[in-house]
Amino acid sequence: MNATLSCPRPGTSPVLQAWVNDIERRARTRLGMGRIADYIPALANQDPACFGLAVCTNDGNLYMAGDAEIPFSIQSLSKVLLLSLALRTHGDGLWRRVGLNPSGMPFNSLMQLETEQGKPRNPFINAGAIVVADHLVGAFATPAKHLQDIARTLSGNPRVLIDHEVLASEWGHRARNAAAAYLMKAFGNLYNEVDEVLTAYFACCALRMSCADLAVALNYLAADGRALTTGEPFVPPAMAQRINALMFTSGMYDAAGDFAYRVGLPAKSGVGGGIVAIVPGRLSVCAWSPALDASGNSVAAQYALELIAEDLGRWHQ
Ligand code: DON
Repeated sequence: MNATLSCPRPGTSPVLQAWVNDIERRARTRLGMGRIADYIPALANQDPACFGLAVCTNDGNLYMAGDAEIPFSIQSLSKVLLLSLALRTHGDGLWRRVGLNPSGMPFNSLMQLETEQGKPRNPFINAGAIVVADHLVGAFATPAKHLQDIARTLSGNPRVLIDHEVLASEWGHRARNAAAAYLMKAFGNLYNEVDEVLTAYFACCALRMSCADLAVALNYLAADGRALTTGEPFVPPAMAQRINALMFTSGMYDAAGDFAYRVGLPAKSGVGGGIVAIVPGRLSVCAWSPALDASGNSVAAQYALELIAEDLGRWHQ
């Protein structure tokens, strides 16, 4: 089958569409819980009543419910794309500068960086993604633009954009990320200028994509590394497997163990309220709702993924 001819397409199974609609209905009962991230002021005025869900099966069917086509700030979901790109470009050398273990700390904590000689615990906390961004600043003239192009290709949506208001807002409130970057620079673990690396990192976080865009774009993690929109390998199968492993252990910050117990899927969240989860060999899911719990994970999106995981055994494609 040539995947480029018809992928993704609107889902063809009425049963699966009804299931996705039902998950949306049930997840909306969690709206009103949690708080919108306001430490990035440009995110503070998101509508807490939004909820979107998109499920993309590996054969290219896309099922959507609610606000699945509204673009939102992907924030830390960009860390999955950044890591994939860095591993494609530099291979396992990255792991000399970034660890592979859960931090058990908030995503923007500085405590371990000082005692662990400026080597972040993993690529999904802010400090780890800043090192990954440093890698890419060394490799590409305009790394954020490059990531935007990749996000467009993988999602099949040429309207994916960096939101410059969010970028400026993060830059204006960068003290904690700048502190992490300077600390890593002091330990020799940041090669380029701090301002240049932070700008690239913030620009990647400021990409705007919808649940549908993200479920399609990150489907390669469910499909042994093969991109749905191009039919070409984006990363080798073993790399997709390893990225999934890291998402499983560190994708949900200090709540990773709790989420793994409840949902049991590799997942990554962002403070814009999006969460992507992967069912290897079968499908990718993105759920989005802006209000977050104390760890920075969307309350309603987590619940939707919990419901999806409960039901997975019912569907055999
Ligand atoms: O650097 C930050 O704090 C944000 N740009 C990204 C944080 C984020 O999404 C972490 N997620 N839960």
